[in-house]
Amino acid sequence: MRPDSAEALKAAGNAELNSAEFAAIAEIMQRDARIHLATGKTTLVQSRLSRRLRAHGLATFRDYVRLVASDAEERAAMIVALTTNHTHFFRENHHFDHLCRTTLPWLQARAQRQPVRIWSAGCSSGEEIYTIAMCLLGQDSRSAAWLRHGDVRLLATDIAPHVVESTRRGLYSAETVAPIPAAYRESWMRPVGSDFQMVEEARALVTARVLNLFEAWPMRQLYDVIFCRNVMIYFDDAAKAELEARFVEMLAPGGYLYIGHSERLIGAAAAQMTSCGQTIYVKQCDTA
Ligand SMILES: C[S@@+](CC[C@H](N)C(=O)[O-])C[C@H]1O[C@@H](n2cnc3c(N)ncnc32)[C@H](O)[C@@H]1O
Repeated sequence: MRPDSAEALKAAGNAELNSAEFAAIAEIMQRDARIHLATGKTTLVQSRLSRRLRAHGLATFRDYVRLVASDAEERAAMIVALTTNHTHFFRENHHFDHLCRTTLPWLQARAQRQPVRIWSAGCSSGEEIYTIAMCLLGQDSRSAAWLRHGDVRLLATDIAPHVVESTRRGLYSAETVAPIPAAYRESWMRPVGSDFQMVEEARALVTARVLNLFEAWPMRQLYDVIFCRNVMIYFDDAAKAELEARFVEMLAPGGYLYIGHSERLIGAAAAQMTSCGQTIYVKQCDTA
């Protein structure tokens, strides 16, 4: 059967995922991305993976489970299909209030003496890192001057290559940019047809990379600010604690960690962090 034949498409769409097949898929997600799939997610997994079955002309999940067992490329595609990439500009705005009022003056003072590094871990399509960038740039060209004189770099990483590519492009629909305050939008976005793109000065601050947070991190220096929001909710407690410990280790003393609204620090690393706002933590200075 040809993968794109009407018969193949119909068969893939009707394929049902049984509990053994779900368990095999959940085990791969846990092993490779540390994403925990609860059994209640069977319908979601079935509908999101039916596209993958169609792409390979497979009619059953039994055949798909066999394929992912032996094909690393398809395992990566499966993980991407099962990630949730929901995000938006100025999401959880209290974080950006804190960033502008408290963290920004600290970063500006630091940038006079040393490099400044900021990381959006699990960046999705880039709205988070560009919201951070606009807070640093300020409302006009004059407020951005400090960035032109310092060594300030923003890193955005995600396990899903297609969202990393969107981050690099920095191109968003009119609907997506609607939550951005007008002054920021007018200074740091330009219209491209009916869409809007982050201007070159904003994009040049950002490096976007594919990175599975549970693999080795290539960064060599400490980070001043880490955003990891609405990512750890997908992991089990052991994975969360492991990741928290690595974030805390990667933070410079006095650096800030921002996590999602429904998240909290649960591991031993929390002892090195002080809460300084809703889901905002600062690394204690004597823990270097
Ligand atoms: C819901 S989005 C959050 C986006 C943004 N941080 C926000 O709060 O708006 C979660 C992102 O985490 C990414 N992700 C999930 N597991 C990951 C892993 N093991 N390594 C890296 N990124 C991961 C997903 O691909 C997805 O883009």
